[in-house]
Amino acid sequence: MQETLLQLKNISVHYGGVKALDGVTISLDEGEFVALMGPNGAGKSTVLKAIFGLAPIEKGEVRWRGSVISPISHEMVERGVSFVPQGRRMFTHLTVLENLEMGGFVIRDSKLLKERINEALDLFPMLKPKLKAKSGTLSGGGQQMVALARGLITDPKVLLLDEPSLGLAPKLVKAVFEKIHEIHKRRGVAIIIVEHNIKSLLHIVSRAYVFDKGSVVIEGKAESIVDSGILERVFLGHVGGG
Ligand SMILES: Nc1ncnc2c1ncn2[C@@H]1O[C@H](COP(=O)(O)OP(=O)(O)OP(=O)(O)O)[C@@H](O)[C@H]1O
Ligand SMILES: [Mg+2]
Repeated sequence: MQETLLQLKNISVHYGGVKALDGVTISLDEGEFVALMGPNGAGKSTVLKAIFGLAPIEKGEVRWRGSVISPISHEMVERGVSFVPQGRRMFTHLTVLENLEMGGFVIRDSKLLKERINEALDLFPMLKPKLKAKSGTLSGGGQQMVALARGLITDPKVLLLDEPSLGLAPKLVKAVFEKIHEIHKRRGVAIIIVEHNIKSLLHIVSRAYVFDKGSVVIEGKAESIVDSGILERVFLGHVGGG
């Protein structure tokens, strides 16, 4: 069996009066590829933010390689977690290369940083001729590729991807998913992806969690979740989360 890298046990998060997560338990093994699904506002992004120290955890436990931790972003980066947030937050006025360098802000050794950027560019050769271009001039698909490449600069063990296909044309969605598949295969990095488009990911995702109203309503093999029809019911609001 693979080692469990990351566990959330009974995690609750409130934003003021809004309960974003209510007793959520999930786990991620080394090298695993897991999807989080569910309707808008279900709490998917909050799960990723909680892991990355960006959401106020009120209750519950986060474990990294079995030990209880309090997630703080820069410490999570040091542990090997990389977060590619929803909406591919990009420094649009900076060049592609500068954005990649920002992804390695914790790397003090400039030679190592260069190496890491070159390794990332091996996976994203289409960015090579664009290194000097302002990121804001790239297409949505191009910017998503930069965001993914930037997420790899720290050579992560875990990649947190929040809706990488959001707002992209179908052809670009396919290209982005193929890249993510390649990252998973070539780097052996464990991935948690928030994605509506689960059917296009079935061949690469091993497990999925379906969220509704801040809770996990079902967890299991991706195929069995799709076959169960639960997704349709959750998206139609026919499954109660509380
Ligand atoms: N910073 C915040 N302040 C207040 N409420 C928030 C904040 N962030 C999220 N929420 C609320 O918490 C709940 C969960 O939000 P979250 O962004 O995790 O959902 P999501 O499943 O990612 O949705 P989407 O599919 O729209 O991205 C929602 O009710 C949302 O309005
Ligand atoms: Mg979200």
